[in-house]
Amino acid sequence: MAIGYQLENRIFTLNTAHTSYQMKVDDFGFLLHLYYGGRVYGNMDYLLTCYDRGFSGNPSDVGNDRTYSMDVLPQEYPVMGVGDFRNSALIIRNADGSDCCDLRYVGHETKRGKYGLPGLPAVYADLEEAETLEIYLEDKVSGVRVTLLYGVLEDADIITRSVVVENRGERNVTVEKAASACLDFVTGRFDMLSFYGRHTMERNLQREEIRHGVYSIGSRRGTSSHQYNPAVILADRNTTEDAGGCYGMVFVYSGNFLCEAERDQYDQTRVMMGLQSDLFHYPLAQGEKLVVPETIMSYSDQGLGMLSIRFHECIRDHLCRGKFRDAPRPVLLNSWEAAYFSFDGQTILKLAKSTASLGIDMIVMDDGWFGKREDDNSGLGDWQVNEKKLGCTLRELIEKVNDEGVKFGIWIEPEMVSEDSELYRKHPDWALRIPGREPVRGRNQLVLDFSRAEVREYIFGEICRILDQGKIEFVKWDMNRSIVDVFSMENCQGKVTYDYMLGVYDFLEKLIERYPDMLIEGCSGGGGRFDAGMLYYTPQIWCSDNTDALDRLRIQYGTSFFYPALTVGSHVSAVPNHQTGRSVSMHTRGVVAMAGAFGYELDPEKLAEDEKEAVREQIRQYKRQEELIRRGRYYRLSNPFTQACAAWMFVSEKQDRALVSVVMLEIHGNMTVSYVKMKGLKPDVLYRDTKSKNSYYGADLMEAGLPMPVELKEYPAYQIELVMEV
Ligand code: GLA
Repeated sequence: MAIGYQLENRIFTLNTAHTSYQMKVDDFGFLLHLYYGGRVYGNMDYLLTCYDRGFSGNPSDVGNDRTYSMDVLPQEYPVMGVGDFRNSALIIRNADGSDCCDLRYVGHETKRGKYGLPGLPAVYADLEEAETLEIYLEDKVSGVRVTLLYGVLEDADIITRSVVVENRGERNVTVEKAASACLDFVTGRFDMLSFYGRHTMERNLQREEIRHGVYSIGSRRGTSSHQYNPAVILADRNTTEDAGGCYGMVFVYSGNFLCEAERDQYDQTRVMMGLQSDLFHYPLAQGEKLVVPETIMSYSDQGLGMLSIRFHECIRDHLCRGKFRDAPRPVLLNSWEAAYFSFDGQTILKLAKSTASLGIDMIVMDDGWFGKREDDNSGLGDWQVNEKKLGCTLRELIEKVNDEGVKFGIWIEPEMVSEDSELYRKHPDWALRIPGREPVRGRNQLVLDFSRAEVREYIFGEICRILDQGKIEFVKWDMNRSIVDVFSMENCQGKVTYDYMLGVYDFLEKLIERYPDMLIEGCSGGGGRFDAGMLYYTPQIWCSDNTDALDRLRIQYGTSFFYPALTVGSHVSAVPNHQTGRSVSMHTRGVVAMAGAFGYELDPEKLAEDEKEAVREQIRQYKRQEELIRRGRYYRLSNPFTQACAAWMFVSEKQDRALVSVVMLEIHGNMTVSYVKMKGLKPDVLYRDTKSKNSYYGADLMEAGLPMPVELKEYPAYQIELVMEV
């Protein structure tokens, strides 16, 4: 049993293979958090201490016991208005205007299997793989009931949390803030690791000590954003890649979020993950509910590397869905950097012909094939094929591409509308706009109000009409601006940001139901919506609009802390690179792109013969290694922000094969030698390097490492294939 409850002292224990989580209902019905971390065996309520703390209020239930205060005790789900002055997980505005919600335990239930969330992405598991705990808390005065949901995936070392807020009272209330997970720690000094960035430079790692005060990251952009990823790590100050304790929290949501970390007056730490409170005022009339998106949590006592592996496995096996969860991904060529908007049917066909000759499986026709769309100033919303531009129907084009033995994929951006479009001229009220104000433009486009069913249904119909025109096996779903004008002509304003996301999920769910064999790649100007929520619908996401191999090393390094390699869309592009002007060898570009769902983003006709041959060899190599990259364990071997080389490796489940990739980042006169230490191998077993034919014990490679060659050039890359000797 992963979930236990002791009736006599009202303690809940959630156990996974290597972790324990405990909480307790106290004498007054408050739900206190006791412990989360490595496996423990006893009752952890001995950790609670009570002292008279000045200016920390006491609930009336305790009489004149001044030692009992919500301001000091660790809470499971802290609320505003009961004397806890730290950050609240929940703020309820009552009908009388007060901000108070005094939640007390009223019951609980345990269930087999993992709970699901209506309309929202969530971790799933077989009945025997998971258990669910629901704890019910209620505020007597307002009638607000809060259900805390816990999903325990014992073998996977994963605990998920979500929350349902329900108005069971008679008067309306408004949810002003709602988190799905809070972790209170009575001991410990922590660092917070978060992933900040910008368009074309996403997910840079930042590690900062949590000090007194509040440190927060989040998004108000309507998407999870390039700027901060909705995933953080809380690590002991001395935790490294390979040792020490650390907690991960990943929000399974693609819209506005807020993550707050706080060290309080008694050096206790609180970390919360949930919905962004700005632009959010969610009204609940009698009987209405709000479901707060899920947070996935895990704890590792073996450093950041093991934490990442737990999240990779959870996301790969319990969040990604559909045929392509387990199927090899096609190697594709995307037309964007090959042609941008300047193409016709012949261009696509030519690209298809050259992809066929190189061994690429699929061509994806990117932006520019519909409506009036010669640049990015018009046409969004008009999902009609521009047959004049293509010189044929879409069906004919697809058939010609297929005749070359190449699959066909297409780009769409369903959430958007250009002011210069037929759709906007007909339905200006379908765009998010604040009446009486000029809208803020982004990429000269507006955002459709996906919180409205009729808007979604219309676009869904239009997109399906396109997808039904031929054998379309791949869709790249893009979203190319941040949302500013949060105002819906039909919906209640405080709900728009949340309902918009639900609308996007609803659309995606219908799309995957209707086209179960189609692979959907998420994208938002590259990695602006690279999150666990999208991965429930799109098992891969275009990781960044930056295809420069050197920058990609760092972007992919940051991405690897939570997201498995097979979710990372990663392409070889032309040099000089279009984002940085840098030139890096074809080999190095290939090695970097092979750390993900592999493809190309260039015009093969512009390649020299030897480069074409290199591409063919890359594809053979990728296909040989594909299963290892998709199913193997991923280990970071270096930090490309601070070390002279970037190195990572994949190790097969049986530990009998491994692929080590290394890119040298520096070259100097009289260069020092880099030794790459490997991970995840069996120590006492011999592995053969298939190229050099040298054999090494796993322990030797892990303890001492392998010297990398010193070559007189910039950014050489090496791939070392290791096979266990039999
Ligand atoms: C975004 C995407 C690119 C490309 C363009 C097309 O920027 O990230 O890959 O699809 O849109 O307009």
